[in-house]
Amino acid sequence: MTASNLPAHIAIIMDGNGRWAVSRGYPRFYGHIRGAARVREIVRESRTLGVRALTLYAFSTENWKRPEEELSVLWTLLRKYIRREVAELKRNGIRLRVIGEWTRLPEEARRELVAAMETLADGKEMDLVFALSYGARAELTDAVRKIASDCERGILKADGITEATLEARLWTSELGDHSNVDFMIRTSGEQRLSNFLLWQCSYAEFDFPETLWPDYTVGEFRKSLERYGARKRRFGGL
Ligand code: FPP
Repeated sequence: MTASNLPAHIAIIMDGNGRWAVSRGYPRFYGHIRGAARVREIVRESRTLGVRALTLYAFSTENWKRPEEELSVLWTLLRKYIRREVAELKRNGIRLRVIGEWTRLPEEARRELVAAMETLADGKEMDLVFALSYGARAELTDAVRKIASDCERGILKADGITEATLEARLWTSELGDHSNVDFMIRTSGEQRLSNFLLWQCSYAEFDFPETLWPDYTVGEFRKSLERYGARKRRFGGL
């Protein structure tokens, strides 16, 4: 994979943890534990390859409907990941960002995230973005609300609103040049976007490997990237 056909921004819907666990006779939460190990590997590989932004869908707004026990495992895993990885992320120049309505998360998880984001704030090599309590419709609604408020305050005029006006008010705006997704991967064979990065995926290429997330190794990831490399992206042109 050369730099020219490496996607700058990869987004992943890490699907299939529950099915992986249940099919092996384990409780669902064990799938998340195994899934968290994959997060570590895929983050490392992305950085090694030179990916500029990696966004991981760790928790959707719909996931709040899950049993309390499963939610609590997810928050524990998130905190463990941060604690274990922050030093290595720092050494590798990785900046951590969070998108979503993550103020709904339990306080300890929020505190840990804030501290890690501060520690990693000057990372220049790759943005690692966790989508937590994220929903694209909520993000777009929030952007529209900000625009309406700027219009009310006289900062903006309706006929001056462009695509860039909206893009600048999305939660991904901090990613600058890399805010749009080049390559979207959803594991487990499901072929849906599930309210993930609707605006940012306008010109993304998609890959739907059958592999369940806990089995999605670095080798599988490289195969996805090869499929991406073989695509011709025309962005509506010829
Ligand atoms: C989808 O599988 C996965 C999730 C809802 C959570 C993803 C979380 C992790 C991979 C681990 C923790 C995250 C970090 C950032 C360390 P599912 O449970 O919907 O699977 P199913 O469709 O088979 O039920």
